[in-house]
Amino acid sequence: MANVHKDAEYVLLSKEQIATRVKEIAKVLDEEYQGKNPVLICILKGSVVFFSDLIREMETDLAIDFMKVSSYGNGTETSGTLTVKQDLSEDIANRHVLIVEDIIDSGNTLFRLKNMLQERNPASVKIVTLLDKKARRTAAIDPDYTCFDIEDEFVIGYGLDYAEKYRNLPYVGVLKRSVYEK
Ligand code: PRP
Repeated sequence: MANVHKDAEYVLLSKEQIATRVKEIAKVLDEEYQGKNPVLICILKGSVVFFSDLIREMETDLAIDFMKVSSYGNGTETSGTLTVKQDLSEDIANRHVLIVEDIIDSGNTLFRLKNMLQERNPASVKIVTLLDKKARRTAAIDPDYTCFDIEDEFVIGYGLDYAEKYRNLPYVGVLKRSVYEK
């Protein structure tokens, strides 16, 4: 592959591999949400690339919204540790909600976020993630739809950052250790 970033050890998921899988997942989601007018929630910032590709592959009518949250600590409690930095613009009561994430690591963010959204009385709340790093999971949460299961490696690109860099890479790469160990 041409022009792999110098800070990437190797390409884990190519642009083509991702596009193929996003199309497959979009089809599954179309079947699930046909006629339900779901609201897809982009969890900023990392999900923005996956989100924009996914919604354009889906054909069923849907709405979009955006949310930015931060999760602190490694507890599995739902209260006190999720900070909403930017909330949804619309009420989700009685709506079918699909949370769109780039990566699930410990699962703390999604565990708390899902609980928070469920308190707003939606018709349903499900989760789709581009990447699932199961080896790091500590919270009791699993995505409903996963594009790729990955090993415990530091991944960048396709929305994912290290120190706010690399989000614009069109592939998912593994970051060279020398970049974050120096
Ligand atoms: C990442 C990712 C998830 C969370 C996953 O977001 O998008 O929201 O971390 O980690 P967890 O499963 O251990 O909770 P991050 O806070 O890095 O923000 P960003 O999307 O703006 O980069």
